[in-house]
Amino acid sequence: MCGIVGYIGKRRVVPVLLEGLKRLEYRGYDSAGVVYLQDNELRRYRCRGKLAGLEAAVSAALGSPAYTGLGHTRWATHGAPTEQNAHPHTDCSGRLVVVHNGIIENYHSLREELIGKGHRFTSETDTEVLAHLIEEHLEGDLVAAVRASLRRVEGSYAVGVMCADHPDLLVAARNHSPLVLGVEEDGSSFMASDVPALLPYTRQVLYLNDEELAVLRDGARQIYRLDSGEPVQRDITVIDWNAAMAEKAGFKHFMLKEIFEQPQAITNTVSGRINLETGEVVLPELTLGADALATIERISLVACGTSWHAALVAKYWIEKYAGIPVEVDIASEFRYRSLLVNDRVLTLAISQSGETADTLAGIRRAARLGSRVITICNVVGSTMTREADGTIYTHAGPEIGVASTKAFISQLAALFLFTLYLAQVRQAIPAEQRRRLGQQLIDSARVIEQLLPRVREQIGTMIESFYACRDFLFVGRGVNFPIALEGALKLKEISYIHAEGYAAGELKHGPIALIDRDMPVLAIVPQDAVYQKTVSNIEEIKARQGRLILIGTEGDTHLRTISDDIIYLPEVHEDLNPLIYTIPAQLLSYEIAVRRGCDVDQPRNLAKSVTVE
Ligand code: F6R
Repeated sequence: MCGIVGYIGKRRVVPVLLEGLKRLEYRGYDSAGVVYLQDNELRRYRCRGKLAGLEAAVSAALGSPAYTGLGHTRWATHGAPTEQNAHPHTDCSGRLVVVHNGIIENYHSLREELIGKGHRFTSETDTEVLAHLIEEHLEGDLVAAVRASLRRVEGSYAVGVMCADHPDLLVAARNHSPLVLGVEEDGSSFMASDVPALLPYTRQVLYLNDEELAVLRDGARQIYRLDSGEPVQRDITVIDWNAAMAEKAGFKHFMLKEIFEQPQAITNTVSGRINLETGEVVLPELTLGADALATIERISLVACGTSWHAALVAKYWIEKYAGIPVEVDIASEFRYRSLLVNDRVLTLAISQSGETADTLAGIRRAARLGSRVITICNVVGSTMTREADGTIYTHAGPEIGVASTKAFISQLAALFLFTLYLAQVRQAIPAEQRRRLGQQLIDSARVIEQLLPRVREQIGTMIESFYACRDFLFVGRGVNFPIALEGALKLKEISYIHAEGYAAGELKHGPIALIDRDMPVLAIVPQDAVYQKTVSNIEEIKARQGRLILIGTEGDTHLRTISDDIIYLPEVHEDLNPLIYTIPAQLLSYEIAVRRGCDVDQPRNLAKSVTVE
């Protein structure tokens, strides 16, 4: 996820770009850049790090008589967060620039092709391919060149393009990444990844749809279909949000926005990594060779908090589909206990931030003992990704809410993919089975998208009878046991209610003594291989007058007869239930915390990235 902004009109452009980027910094903040046109030349400034660095670098240019420009704030997906990888990117001539948000999936083959034609690349990004591709197609008509180039691109993009030889226009286009146009009273035109960047100047916006291209001029703008080139009529929408509301896209909190971004997070993480015709999984950035993975004897998963819960789910998957024994450790334990780790053990660290001190210490220790190390990480260029032998990036985009939501879902998606990859290199399951599981993983995004609004509404009314309780229990079995742990963690960290997660079968070994009407029990009961066992555990709670909130499979009428409240979810492949059943647990925690007046996005005593021991 990155932020882009563009302007053509009567204002001095540099302050407009900086103001816009400031309002988009929540979308990414590892580097930033601007470009503007002055005296028929492009002037480009780029800086690593937060926007303040760019502001300092460009301060002398604030009053420049320049009226057309583009800006970008980056959340790295391909290539480390360096100045060289910062946008805008230019073609060979240096007269054409591109800013981009999204992922160009076929950039590798396009890059090879363009290098063959003599293009020279200066960054490791997927975006730079686009600048060179447009240059290759440019024969006088910039709009035609952008259209022709984008037709060759697979993946997602919101792009802004400008060219010193076409000073009177900016070109914008989108496919699966957001882009909105703005229109000021004086006729000036804007483009931005999100509405907040436009609000200081205008509330009149035009939303671009997928596979559309827009040509912006001072005083005019026109939208076209990317494929046919036909003009599209689009009505102006007048925004009535304030700036803070707009940054959260109308959601009350970042956490809620991020919960609703989970379908996209899954799609971004999986897209381009599994061939749905052959079942082949490709993880190009996992530089550790398939040979090394084919011969390991054991996998050691290391993580903290929510990421540890993702690891617990992965143990079930990897052992079942790849047939490799898996150990799961909390990193703060792993780093100090006596370890039986050597060069036949793969250590896999899971971390949203890539900076968590205990996890980092854990992988350093494993590496010293001879283990190969892989990370599953959301932050490109973070310490763990630099130290590991290979990385699988989750593409959840920046997570602002302290409680992990979309990062967790994308970790699950990446771990499921990695499981299929292991099964592939070790020939543990047939390609057809991998293909089907891959398809079901992709489909889970749509399932979640459909259930989110309904489940949120239901939970909103349901919580009235238990939001004030002091204690909560979450239970599940098998692959959903870690989801019970995750549900309990979410609730306690944002609502300050004491909550415990348990394996449902473990209740009778102690916790059942706690059961009474004052302690609701949320039970995850899909119709899976251990369904009957879980139902028996629930009946035991019911027999002790426990208060039951059940989450089960649509059509399971038996559950209704034993529950106080029930949330039904669609049936999916049973091993993908953790992705689906996480959603009600997150929403329940969120709604309870809001009802209790808690600071959902920044709970007390917590930090987003725990870089101390
Ligand atoms: C809980 C949460 C934390 C993190 C943990 C690890 O909602 O966000 O438990 O999961 O601090 O952080 P990362 O994944 O960055 O290593």
